[in-house]
Amino acid sequence: MKIDILTLFPEMFAPLEHSIVGKAQEKGLLEINYHNFRQNAEKSRHVDDEPYGGGQGMLLRVQPIFDTMAKIQADKPRVLLLEPAGRKFDQAYAEELAQEDQLIFICGHYEGYDERIKTLVTDEVSLGDFVLTGGELAAMTVVDATVRLIPEVLGKESSHQDDSFSSGLLEYPQYTRPYDFRGMTVPDVLMSGHHENIRRWRLEQSLRKTWQRRPDLLDHYQLSPEEADLLEKIKTQDRENEERND
Ligand SMILES: C[S@@+](CC[C@H](N)C(=O)[O-])C[C@H]1O[C@@H](n2cnc3c(N)ncnc32)[C@H](O)[C@@H]1O
Repeated sequence: MKIDILTLFPEMFAPLEHSIVGKAQEKGLLEINYHNFRQNAEKSRHVDDEPYGGGQGMLLRVQPIFDTMAKIQADKPRVLLLEPAGRKFDQAYAEELAQEDQLIFICGHYEGYDERIKTLVTDEVSLGDFVLTGGELAAMTVVDATVRLIPEVLGKESSHQDDSFSSGLLEYPQYTRPYDFRGMTVPDVLMSGHHENIRRWRLEQSLRKTWQRRPDLLDHYQLSPEEADLLEKIKTQDRENEERND
């Protein structure tokens, strides 16, 4: 995958040189290019200006962004504008973006953008209902969540299939050595070596966590007959616990 990032602060992206995203670049699975659009700004490198009609703060000017985009070689890329009013980013969105050959990110700053910049974009993306100082941290988050889904980026030892949100359920609890840490032991079923029991326990734990923490996820999830039975059992246990505590 090729990623181009338009930003006033390329140095903020140093974290992407490390860990999984850094390794993906070393393996040649990913290329990231940074474009500081200040370098393409006319008018003594001014990238921002006051809003027409008055108002607080400064806006990114349209010219530096247009001229920077014109220099990027691209064949029908997805162009993502980081924008609090955009489509909320989630795992399904990351899976969609991981299918693309090229992504271009435009990172905002100051009070926002000249609206005409939006004629260049295919997607407006929001990280959530809060306001960041600039689009850089949001772009890094989207890049990280997307790149780890590209085939061969994660090594054989790790996989995203069981990750929370990938299957539609939250991930089950996990444990590693030692078996007993200061009196806190690992559930017996995980020590049993009985693969079928372990699979069923993990499925039940995933369903329980999802039901208790994010029941909204179950509204869009197709339960298998086994999952429907387990969920019924979990709901009954929860009801009995509540009655006992009343
Ligand atoms: C200070 S914010 C501008 C906020 C704008 N005045 C508003 O009310 O929507 C500057 C830039 O940070 C980025 N940004 C801020 N919050 C974001 C979020 N929740 N998701 C994605 N990008 C965000 C955008 O690129 C935005 O243009």
